[in-house]
Amino acid sequence: MAEPLNISLIGGGTVGGGVAQILLQHPERIATRAGRPVHIKRVVVRDPHKPRPTIPKELVSTDIAAAIRDPQVHVVVELMGGTGLAKQVVLDSLAAGKHVVTANKALLAEHGPEIFEAARKHERSVGFEASVAGGIPIIRALAESLAGNQITAIQGILNGTSNFILTAMADRGVSYSDALAEAQRLGYAEADPTLDVDGSDAAHKLAILVQIAFGVTVPVNEIERFGIAGLNAMDLRFAHELGYTIKLLAEAWLDGKEVALHVAPVLLRRTDMLAQVRGAFNAVQVVGDAVGEIMFQGAGAGALPTASSVVADIIDLAVGRAQRTFQAMKLWAPHELGFRQRPSEGVRSRFFLRVLVQDKSGMLADVARVLADQGISIASVIQHEAVEEHQGDVVPLVIMTHYAETGRFRSAVSKINSLTGVVPPGVFYSVDD
Ligand code: NAP
Ligand code: HSE
Repeated sequence: MAEPLNISLIGGGTVGGGVAQILLQHPERIATRAGRPVHIKRVVVRDPHKPRPTIPKELVSTDIAAAIRDPQVHVVVELMGGTGLAKQVVLDSLAAGKHVVTANKALLAEHGPEIFEAARKHERSVGFEASVAGGIPIIRALAESLAGNQITAIQGILNGTSNFILTAMADRGVSYSDALAEAQRLGYAEADPTLDVDGSDAAHKLAILVQIAFGVTVPVNEIERFGIAGLNAMDLRFAHELGYTIKLLAEAWLDGKEVALHVAPVLLRRTDMLAQVRGAFNAVQVVGDAVGEIMFQGAGAGALPTASSVVADIIDLAVGRAQRTFQAMKLWAPHELGFRQRPSEGVRSRFFLRVLVQDKSGMLADVARVLADQGISIASVIQHEAVEEHQGDVVPLVIMTHYAETGRFRSAVSKINSLTGVVPPGVFYSVDD
């Protein structure tokens, strides 16, 4: 058998523990696939006394520098998270001549250009399959299997925690905060779960996918994002009544030379394949000019599904494939396709609007007038006589529009918010039909 591939794990938490579990429980399988044994030499953590059922105690330390410097180590696997120390770990590892594997989407979305330039300079590679959609091999699919296509659209459920919360609220009537606590307990959420529920984690992942699919570097703070933190159970009920469900979607599509992209809760018809993706599962629908529409689905978070992708990257390095494909991909480098980001205001969509209004004559007419003034046509209206959402004399009024320009619709909503008899803010979501 050939010389082993030695790795240091920086991080022995949810994902690090999963990677150790796969590598230590199945050494023969891994060695066969990799053509050589894969050995974990070191695992670096913050607290060496924490119980870690899948990691032998003698591997554990708190010494990051030693784990990077160790001359026997070929690959540093960064699974600590964050964008400060983690960035330093990655850059130091590349400078020390180590290949890097990471699941850290925030790091790549924010510092991709610097990290990939350093990797090219040191002739090392960065594997990041686990950074988007957990166990789904979407990075390889886009970068390798679909390389003959021009991708024209990507639509994905990319955050397992949000999808878990939305499913728990819609299917089991669980409250938002209980569902989030459950997702944290199951190891799906980020160390700071705000990133999950405010759309930032999905935006990080979308920035990575857009880089691969369109060669566009979008500064992550320029990706418009709306999360699920403000989502009210009554909106899920109204959506359901109209034949829809609400999903947090990350979307990017090509329009001429422009790429429009955003992260937002969107109403999807309940028969849509993405609408049926439940719990912490992720799904990515891709349209390519040769392949047509193709859909990937699987566990998007959690120890073993994420570790499955990390281990695939490690095996690719052991075999020697990763080094070649990494150099060929030229990610976060000047590109020739010439696509640029498109502002969201001009995007046309249908909208769901829910506004709390006083139950008195003329309110519906006032709201409809503002929409009409912006040239926005109403498709349907719901106002129930007696429902649990009624708060004294205030009732929810739900309006579905026909297609309208986002900018016009948003300016109509801000006018509606200032109408007498309206309790602001009106809540609105795009509708994908
Ligand atoms: P986690 O459970 O919080 O584990 C983080 C690990 O890093 C812990 O072992 C922690 O040590 C260690 N660590 C943190 N700061 C450190 C420091 N300053 N020095 C030394 N060790 C330090 O996080 P995770 O869920 O495994 O996520 C790791 C990465 O994978 C993140 O970038 C995350 O976004 C990404 N990711 C996670 C998932 C998922 O489902 N969880 C899926 C895809 C990608 P202690 O154990 O001693 O605290
Ligand atoms: N917190 C992330 C999620 C982990 O819930 O999707 C997977 O990237």
